[in-house]
Amino acid sequence: MSSAASPDQVGGQTPKAFQPRIFSGIQPSGGITLGNYLGALKRFVEKQDEGIETVYCLVDMHAITVWQDPEKLRQQTREGAAAFLAAGIDPKRSILFNQSQVSAHAELGWIFSCIARMGWMSRMTQWKDKTAGKNAEAASLGLFAYPALMAADILAYKATMVPVGDDQKQHLELTRDIAIKFNNDYGVDFFPVVEPLIEGAATRVMSLRDGTKKMSKSDPSDQSRINLTDDADTIAAKIRKAKTDAEPLPDSIDGLKDRPEAKNLVNIYAALAGQTVAQVIADNAGAQFGTFKPKLVDLAVAKLSPISGEMNRLMADPGEIDRILGNGADRADALARPILDQVYDITGMIRSRRK
Ligand code: TYM
Repeated sequence: MSSAASPDQVGGQTPKAFQPRIFSGIQPSGGITLGNYLGALKRFVEKQDEGIETVYCLVDMHAITVWQDPEKLRQQTREGAAAFLAAGIDPKRSILFNQSQVSAHAELGWIFSCIARMGWMSRMTQWKDKTAGKNAEAASLGLFAYPALMAADILAYKATMVPVGDDQKQHLELTRDIAIKFNNDYGVDFFPVVEPLIEGAATRVMSLRDGTKKMSKSDPSDQSRINLTDDADTIAAKIRKAKTDAEPLPDSIDGLKDRPEAKNLVNIYAALAGQTVAQVIADNAGAQFGTFKPKLVDLAVAKLSPISGEMNRLMADPGEIDRILGNGADRADALARPILDQVYDITGMIRSRRK
């Protein structure tokens, strides 16, 4: 899928420096999990504090690539927004909104559907996973085209950096290919070639029931994941019941090889504590899970309970959440609209309506 052009050959011109801007999004297709929190949301807050412009989005239009109950979708979008705010996103410093309120996403998504190739899309592992063993003919066209909309989410803002978990890496490679192909096809140096930010100890948090499977909001077993809305007792019970092996924790990172469940719990501990995996191993070498799990419970409850408490408080006033999302959407639209107008101009669309 990789394009022939390198980022510094776009349009055959000298590349220009793009203003640093961060964009990322989370689907409100279920509750926010510990995987979303450690792989994405916690890092969104850290990026906000690094002084780069940050734009964050609840991607409701992505969610409907598989059918969603409308009332539940609205509820989950508000709950997602509450999770962002409770985790520390400040709507004055970051732009926070839901995707469907800014039509530039859908408009640019269409243009990118005309740039991306069918072959690129059919090679996406998430598409293959989601249709594996099922009738792919019955999947929605939107599910297939999803990565073009994701590229539009990012490039509508000419974002240069995208913090995500490991599972989004291939989609970001596709976003790079779309940017390069657009620039080459139209002989411009218009879109930046984005940099994925996949960092930290928890880029891939695994299921608590099976250390070889990703923790996911769509897993049928609620025991497989921690939800940001879980209370302290639920968090404790899920960690106590988490699958492990019979060995004590090793004294080196190498010792976690072929021990997916042990590795997962150590990674979760490191990410929650803000430590490196090496530090956690050094502090807990030789510990049995009977000792390590209660430590992890205490840490998880200490870090996550304040977030769920704050989410509950925010959810009591949905009007205020909608107001924050509306303000964020106005600010997002002000950034994206001029970029989209230029895209229409570049692609040869007449824009003659009086404003
Ligand atoms: P989504 O909603 O599945 O997940 C949101 C973010 O959480 C990360 N994540 C995880 N990280 C570590 N361990 C896990 N078990 C785990 N599960 C999820 C994801 O990598 C992601 O960063 N296509 C995206 C949403 C999207 C988007 C975008 C992201 C739409 N447009 C533009 C970035 C930029 C998705 O389905 O994420």
